[in-house]
Amino acid sequence: MSKFEKALEAARYIRQREQRQPKVAVILGSGLGGLVEELEQPNAIPYGQIPGFPASNVAGHAARLAFGSIGGRDVVLMQGRFHYYEGLSMSEITFPVCVLRQLGVESLIVTNACGGINGSFAPGDLMLITDHINMSGNNPLIGPNDDRLGPRFPDMTEAYDPALRRLAEDTAAELGISLQKGVYALYTGPSFETAAEIRAFRTLGADAIGMSTVPEVIVARHAGMRVLGISCITNMATGIARTKHSHEEVLAAANASSQRFRLLVRTLLERWE
Ligand code: HPA
Repeated sequence: MSKFEKALEAARYIRQREQRQPKVAVILGSGLGGLVEELEQPNAIPYGQIPGFPASNVAGHAARLAFGSIGGRDVVLMQGRFHYYEGLSMSEITFPVCVLRQLGVESLIVTNACGGINGSFAPGDLMLITDHINMSGNNPLIGPNDDRLGPRFPDMTEAYDPALRRLAEDTAAELGISLQKGVYALYTGPSFETAAEIRAFRTLGADAIGMSTVPEVIVARHAGMRVLGISCITNMATGIARTKHSHEEVLAAANASSQRFRLLVRTLLERWE
């Protein structure tokens, strides 16, 4: 079965369990899952029950698709995502994005926990992603292209939608939430970066470093979805930070920012055009 047909099959299964057809989806990053508490009339479908979905069990990530409404708008939240470092292929980790598209989702909000490289950032900051650098050496679209999913050579000029970025900046300003802006770079992990790597990535123009998001954004753009990206800077990157990193530190810092993150995303959804 082709990837397109697999995505259709998964979408058909989900439709049997959920009649609402949200136009907006949010992928929740590490420690940012609290947004699910904002859902009215929630209905969650565990990934393990959806045909074609890989299984994931990374600490800090639930593994389900949660439908509901926030601020009067139907939305679907991905509680937990798949990472390249789990040993899955780029095509596998981005399969849910293909399924969301087949479900009729038109815009994707990607969120993540990441390390700050830009010296003006501090742990706890939220950062609007303006662009990305794919440092993985891989791409989820490698392989034969299925034109039913998108074009062979998708353009990435404005991968992070300018109008949605403006909406996020205006909304954050009105809420009094400070929002940094910057370029997110993908590092495969699962080891954290060395200090030399972080110096190199800073020279290349990265403001933040993380282990997710970029593959999903590539697939979303391929499928013609609009993308908004919000990062939570949970720690300063290696060599800038004075302390060593741990996943626990990342989760605790993301949790500490989650009230601001929830308020921002909730208000964004209320105002989504
Ligand atoms: N590096 C990579 N990924 C991360 C980091 C980091 O410092 N913090 C949270 N995710």
